[in-house]
Amino acid sequence: MDLLDAIRTRRSVRAFRDELISRDVLNAVLSDAANAPSAINMQPWELHMVIGEERKRLSRLLIRSFRERKLTCGPGAAHTLPDRFMQRARECAELMTPLIERMGADFMTYINEGSLNFYGAPAVALLFLDESFPPERMTDIGSFLAYLVLAATGHGLDSCPIGLVKSYEDEVKEHLNIPESKNLVVTVALGQAELGAAVNEFRSSRADLREFVRWIE
Ligand SMILES: Cc1cc2nc3c(=O)[nH]c(=O)nc-3n(C[C@H](O)[C@H](O)[C@H](O)COP(=O)(O)O)c2cc1C
Repeated sequence: MDLLDAIRTRRSVRAFRDELISRDVLNAVLSDAANAPSAINMQPWELHMVIGEERKRLSRLLIRSFRERKLTCGPGAAHTLPDRFMQRARECAELMTPLIERMGADFMTYINEGSLNFYGAPAVALLFLDESFPPERMTDIGSFLAYLVLAATGHGLDSCPIGLVKSYEDEVKEHLNIPESKNLVVTVALGQAELGAAVNEFRSSRADLREFVRWIE
């Protein structure tokens, strides 16, 4: 697939088919994602790939924790955000709600428990950064994330970045035996989209360039 086609057609999928993806395909996606740029090529990312039954076991634990602790998807901002950002988040929810309701589900439950279930994806990448790195190196993880979702598209896979799992980091690390010194940044569900699922009809919009670009000459 052409790079620009991948950039233009990639989208987050929120219902996956329960079909395993071969280790060869996942390795090909990860090898391509590893071409991501990073500061002085330190490649600080560390990945834990959780697949098959282990992925399902992890989700059962996360959903149990969610039902006890109720930490939900949201902007997670410490301060009030400018209205245009909140407006974009609201638009996302407003457009997705009728699609999720068509599936007989409630929006909040579908998004929160769905995120923690990785929307049924057969594979999930957990992206970590060692605590010894300064916060600036999160940009490198973001860079890897972007390459990962595009590499997945290039290899015929669908994906959804999932940040909510970060709220349950302690449980994840204990369950997967990951040292305390590793910080979970984000997770990515990987698999094949369930094509008939209404939620996958959702298309996110983008702001006009004039809203976020200033030219100086
Ligand atoms: C860092 C990050 C965290 C995200 N966390 C979640 C999440 O927890 N649950 C979810 O359903 N989508 C999540 N998303 C997906 C975004 O909602 C999605 O990227 C956005 O709405 C734009 O849509 P698109 O990816 O289809 O272009 C996340 C995306 C990013 C980049």
